[in-house]
Amino acid sequence: MSKKGKQEKFVEIGTLPNVFQNHEVLTNNLVNSEGKKVNMQGHWHDFFGNDNPITVELACGKGEYAVGLARMYPERNFIGMDLKGNRLWRGATAAIQEGLTNVAFIRSQIDFISYYFAPGELSEIWITFADPQLEKPRKRLTSNFFMDWYRKVLKPGGLIHLKTDSPELYDFTMKRVIEEKLKLQFAHDNIYTLPEQMPEWTIKTYYEQMHLEKGLTIKYLRFEL
Ligand SMILES: C[S@@+](CC[C@H](N)C(=O)[O-])C[C@H]1O[C@@H](n2cnc3c(N)ncnc32)[C@H](O)[C@@H]1O
Repeated sequence: MSKKGKQEKFVEIGTLPNVFQNHEVLTNNLVNSEGKKVNMQGHWHDFFGNDNPITVELACGKGEYAVGLARMYPERNFIGMDLKGNRLWRGATAAIQEGLTNVAFIRSQIDFISYYFAPGELSEIWITFADPQLEKPRKRLTSNFFMDWYRKVLKPGGLIHLKTDSPELYDFTMKRVIEEKLKLQFAHDNIYTLPEQMPEWTIKTYYEQMHLEKGLTIKYLRFEL
């Protein structure tokens, strides 16, 4: 466990070569570890130095999925996105310490995703334990508002994975899939009871571990957008 405080981590992420930060809203500009404004839209493959598919983890917190998937799939690239720098610090630091060159992070509101990626630049999106926004359905990360942004940056038929403890977010997303006539690949509302487990489910995020300790069931669905 790191003894660094929130503020120290917040300052340090600005110096990490795998972190890009949003300092201006409604522009393509992100700030890199040299303090330079960079437009990464359409340039992520140059950053990774390969043409491998790119997956984004939204609301990544400490980036357990971005880093865990990067370890599991060295032939793919991963980008974690979250607002909170002190949380991102954990994933970004772990990736550097392990020498993982196929993972990066963006500190920004998810709402600006289409400023940072070109049309079709992404292959998959993971949404991990996002806030269910019980009072504000429009703010849910699988609302039509967000899905329209994802459509712009995902390849046609790109995948969305949702892992959640929230029955409301799971049911809401399932309803969106049905109403929008999207292709559902898989859905289950209590995945750890299944005899066959997806290797990706072995990754447990900070929030997932807390939910499991409380005895909550974990739900997962995957669909094509
Ligand atoms: C419940 S936490 C889950 C974090 C992590 N995925 C986990 O499972 O441990 C939700 C995360 O979503 C982030 N978040 C919520 N709304 C966001 C938005 N509009 N843009 C960027 N991050 C957001 C928060 O900062 C927080 O880290």
